[in-house]
Amino acid sequence: MPANLITLTDPRSPAAEAYRTLRTNLMFSNLDNPIRTLVVTSPVFSAEKSTVLANLAVTLAQGGRETIIVDCDLRKPAQQTIWGLDNASGLTAMLLDDALFENPPLQAVGVDGLSVLTSGELPPNPADVIGSRRMDDAIAVLMDRADFVLFDVPPILAVTDAALLGHKVDGVLLALRAGSARRDHAARAKEELDRVNVPIIGTVLTNAQRDSAVSNYYAR
Ligand SMILES: Nc1ncnc2c1ncn2[C@@H]1O[C@H](COP(=O)(O)OP(=O)(O)OP(=O)(O)O)[C@@H](O)[C@H]1O
Ligand SMILES: [Mg+2]
Repeated sequence: MPANLITLTDPRSPAAEAYRTLRTNLMFSNLDNPIRTLVVTSPVFSAEKSTVLANLAVTLAQGGRETIIVDCDLRKPAQQTIWGLDNASGLTAMLLDDALFENPPLQAVGVDGLSVLTSGELPPNPADVIGSRRMDDAIAVLMDRADFVLFDVPPILAVTDAALLGHKVDGVLLALRAGSARRDHAARAKEELDRVNVPIIGTVLTNAQRDSAVSNYYAR
């Protein structure tokens, strides 16, 4: 298993515990209208958003929820690398092929309740693909097969893909990297999402210093 998947390699670590807290927060965030579809993104590149998404998906599956990861980063997809999967087929093949549309090329990853739809071949016009009606229909097909569908996308301030997809899901989770995330970038990302009425469900701080006063007790 890749080292990035701390929820699998070290389920008792403080980081894995933090993912379980995130799972609980997500489940309780809107009891009357539960969150089922989620985009994970960040203001700029390299906030470890693809890693956050993968670990959150593991944690949801471990909690007994059928979960699908969809790699909608059609510019620099990462889920096939994180999981060691073949990316010959995937989301773009599903969108093009009616047979695959009905029966999406989901791949098992050895975690009960979790499957991954990799990006597939990269199209020349990612934003058009993500903004298409066909994409809406694909989301509906995937929702029929899972309790949670999580979408990996490029950073918000780089391209429009995250905002476009954010529009089609229950909300966006914003990953911010401690030590490098800039306040003005975070503020601009929020403005951009607010402007198109995409709800920010919460934020995740990556690369955070561990608070030993909190974590040592249970680590013993
Ligand atoms: N700012 C950073 N500094 C150091 N290492 C990083 C940084 N961002 C990501 N990494 C590491 O790089 C690898 C890939 O990270 P990941 O793909 O999750 O990031 P990402 O935010 O999805 O990137 P991208 O913007 O390219 O989609 C991971 O091993 C992660 O720990
Ligand atoms: Mg990524």
